[in-house]
Amino acid sequence: MVTYLDAETAPLRNTGQIRLYNAESFEGMRRACQLTARCLDELASIVAPGVTTAAIDRFVFEFGMDNGALPATLNYRGYTHSVCTSINHVVCHGIPDDKPLREGDIVNIDVTYIVDGWHGDSSRMYPVGQIKRAAERLLEVTYECLLRGIEAVKPGARTGAIGAAIQSYAEAERCSVVRDFCGHGVGKLFHDAPNILHYGHPNEGVEMRPGMIFTIEPMINLGKPHVKVLSDGWTAVTRDRSLTAQYEHAVGVTETGCEIFTLSPGGLDCPGLPARS
Ligand code: MF3
Ligand code: CO
Ligand code: CO
Repeated sequence: MVTYLDAETAPLRNTGQIRLYNAESFEGMRRACQLTARCLDELASIVAPGVTTAAIDRFVFEFGMDNGALPATLNYRGYTHSVCTSINHVVCHGIPDDKPLREGDIVNIDVTYIVDGWHGDSSRMYPVGQIKRAAERLLEVTYECLLRGIEAVKPGARTGAIGAAIQSYAEAERCSVVRDFCGHGVGKLFHDAPNILHYGHPNEGVEMRPGMIFTIEPMINLGKPHVKVLSDGWTAVTRDRSLTAQYEHAVGVTETGCEIFTLSPGGLDCPGLPARS
């Protein structure tokens, strides 16, 4: 049995219970998430051939410092960087290093700033220079998956409706959904209940209630869904080395649907893709 509790009075650890946040908490999330979104906007004009992911890591750290925010990944479970940078067949949790990005790469940049204790968790895909049509199509399909997942968020529905919306669209587009990683409750904690699966059926998962806050962050592959984690303990790659993509928003459930906290202030939710209608 799942239980829901008032986030104001709940202990600050993941007990498996689902926190319901009030209006003031939503305001806190807006601030944290908008700082993250501004950083991701800035990165759109930084990512280019020749730029290293280590330079992106330094930018994310400095931008946080300049704005009174700490990157949540820094020293999180032994991770020692300010950002995850996942290139081409890297599904997620790619570690920044000194290798320059190359023309034609696609890179996911995943930033989480902590502002006044609130976690703003979001990621976007960045094309590096000119990319192949297959890669562009994967980015389009993956962002559409995220939007369809978000449209399924309403009080009374179950979280399985999110996964079902994502999986049915991805597979209709001859892509596959990664099963090994999921979205998550977020707010005062970085990773909280419930897990948000990106596959499944509308009658699965927990009932969504106003005040819930979680991420949706589908990882979509051009090939098979299977992944493996490299010996560094972090880098997750597609087993068949097929191209993979991910976009992540943090959302709060409202009386009528949801609010997307991490929307780009600059209209750069899908940097480098032709504007959507
Ligand atoms: N930001 C990632 C997420 O979307 C988590 C990264 S944890 C790290 O949940 F330790 F790998 F950085
Ligand atoms: Co997340
Ligand atoms: Co993230």
